[in-house]
Amino acid sequence: MSALFSPFKLKNVQLRNRIAIPPMCQYSATDGVINDWHRAHYAALARGGAGLVIVEATAVSPEGRITPACTGLWNDAQALALAPVAAAIKAAGAVAGIQIAHAGRKASANRPWEGDDHIADGDARGWQTLSPSAIAFGANLPKQPKAMTLDDIARVRGDFVAAAARARDAGFEWLELHFAHGYLGQSFFSPHANQRDDAYGGSFESRSRFLLETLAAVRQIWPANLPLTARFGVIEYDGRDEETLAESIELARNFKREGLDLLSVSVGFSTPAASIPWAPAFLAPIAERVRREAGLPVASAWGIDTPELAERTVRDGQLDLVMVGRAHLANPHWPYHAAKKLGIDRPSWVLPAPYAHWLERYAVS
Ligand SMILES: Cc1cc2nc3c(=O)[nH]c(=O)nc-3n(C[C@H](O)[C@H](O)[C@H](O)COP(=O)(O)O)c2cc1C
Repeated sequence: MSALFSPFKLKNVQLRNRIAIPPMCQYSATDGVINDWHRAHYAALARGGAGLVIVEATAVSPEGRITPACTGLWNDAQALALAPVAAAIKAAGAVAGIQIAHAGRKASANRPWEGDDHIADGDARGWQTLSPSAIAFGANLPKQPKAMTLDDIARVRGDFVAAAARARDAGFEWLELHFAHGYLGQSFFSPHANQRDDAYGGSFESRSRFLLETLAAVRQIWPANLPLTARFGVIEYDGRDEETLAESIELARNFKREGLDLLSVSVGFSTPAASIPWAPAFLAPIAERVRREAGLPVASAWGIDTPELAERTVRDGQLDLVMVGRAHLANPHWPYHAAKKLGIDRPSWVLPAPYAHWLERYAVS
């Protein structure tokens, strides 16, 4: 019996296995609207056999995009274009998820393959970025953000709610709030970005406020029977790791109290000075600790790209869901190959019948 290929139920949603495709920006939209590239990309990924496909970080407002080519959900045209993507993912037997996001001080950047740095001041493609405090990230992202006013905070919280409602109406059944990777949510929590001395900065409670308020507001409109999840960087690898982790676990307990159903455990990426111990599945033991101490189901990613490793993290109780990202870009049929490697009976039936029928009869390596 494979743990990786066992089903997983969260609220009223059942995943056919524990393989999830994490959000991966395609940097290929126009005015936040997706196109043929995204339609083909997400359909192919869902047909590969994963249980859950999460559509890329989709901005809740224009200034919340990482790059001018990021997807958005701040207007109805964007939602209308995304609805067939949700339908295609479902038609392939996967659950359709989406990540909604605000990039904070890391917004207004060039695409990764066009520099991955801030758009130069004075270039009309760029915009004023927002963050809890007027502190730049640094390194390749030197632009100084505007410190958000209380009105800005209320507006962005409302933007998350409006985007969540559009995601719901477009047919998505799994929502992930992007509170990780040095973007806006993470920036409110991190002292690297947040030096406020009002109700939204300073103490643990105040640094948590934006995230908890946003979660609570979204929970009110997101259906009670569908999973509401968040991605959060529980550790920064900045030399204060035990303290950050303890705070993060406390925050995860508070997330749970506000109605969060699962936490996708990631890295904070709030400072360019971090020293990250990259290795296969290096976050899995940390995710396991969050799972145990916060009492929340967890997912995680980063270098879990072999079937054996993925199987082990689920079997050993480290993860409820394994996020397999880049390995799916290399091979959209990763779950089929994983099923073969793990000795699943009739592995070809991970794929849709027009592929499975032939692979069952004429196995290929
Ligand atoms: C092309 C690309 C785009 C990404 N975009 C996002 C994103 O939109 N949201 C997010 O939370 N993480 C994003 N990530 C991080 C992935 O979700 C994932 O955590 C990372 O690729 C590590 O998992 P892997 O080792 O299985 O690839 C992106 C990664 C890649 C490679």
